[in-house]
Amino acid sequence: MSLLRLQGVTKRFGGLVAVDHVDLVVEHGELLGIVGPNGSGKTTLYNLISGVYLCDEGRIFFEDEDITDLPPYERAHIGIGRSFQIPRPFGAATVRENVAIGAMFGRMIGKVGEKEALEMADHYLSMLGLYEKRHKVSNSLTPVEKKLMEIARALAMKPKLLLMDEAMAGMNPKDIDGMVALIKKIGEQEKIAIVSMVEHIMRALVNFAERVMVMHQGKKLVDAPTQEALNDPKVIEVYLGRLTLEDKDAQSN
Ligand SMILES: Nc1ncnc2c1ncn2[C@@H]1O[C@H](COP(=O)(O)OP(=O)(O)O)[C@@H](O)[C@H]1O
Ligand SMILES: [Mg+2]
Repeated sequence: MSLLRLQGVTKRFGGLVAVDHVDLVVEHGELLGIVGPNGSGKTTLYNLISGVYLCDEGRIFFEDEDITDLPPYERAHIGIGRSFQIPRPFGAATVRENVAIGAMFGRMIGKVGEKEALEMADHYLSMLGLYEKRHKVSNSLTPVEKKLMEIARALAMKPKLLLMDEAMAGMNPKDIDGMVALIKKIGEQEKIAIVSMVEHIMRALVNFAERVMVMHQGKKLVDAPTQEALNDPKVIEVYLGRLTLEDKDAQSN
């Protein structure tokens, strides 16, 4: 039984087909990278999987259950984790409280009390290196720390599938290497399948993903083991120019 299965998933905005008949399978514990030029439909695909948008066509299955029509919070309860399926961070609440909310409104909903939720928060904050800041008001965190808090919050939801949307945006290359190693470790430890958009930094993608899906104009262009996907002539064509720039960035860092 696969964890997630998309069949012909399609989403239109007016005349624009943002996601165009995409088929995708994600297995339990898999580390999948999603890449594609701006506007290729990546975020819309995440929104379809997490239930922010409903599909215009196609079906979505999670552990063989048809979840096509489920609202976002019910998808969170069955194990699809994405930080903003639950209330956005409360700026005035502490970092610890924000993560505890994840614990209480995720897969363990109704099964964890406040005390246990706070303990889970401490656990995931330690994992993400934010334990020392747990009593701070979340508004006082730096943007990178806020991302880490959101990841801790998503993990506290105990997802079987974790969708990470540009989790590494705004980080420097050294932090990104650290993040990639950490996310991989967490995925393995917690047996979570992680689908991550690893944008702009090819090295991070290669280090993170076992498999890569490349999107282009709403369609799935390539879906293959990472090296194979990156060497695919269709992918090289889509990324021509971009890759060269990134290689230069990587060398100068
Ligand atoms: N809410 C929306 N309303 C109208 N068009 C949208 C909306 N969200 C995304 N789009 C369009 O859908 C296409 C795919 O966007 P998106 O999924 O954000 O791509 P990506 O994340 O790959 O950059 C783009 O052309 C974008 O302008
Ligand atoms: Mg996007």
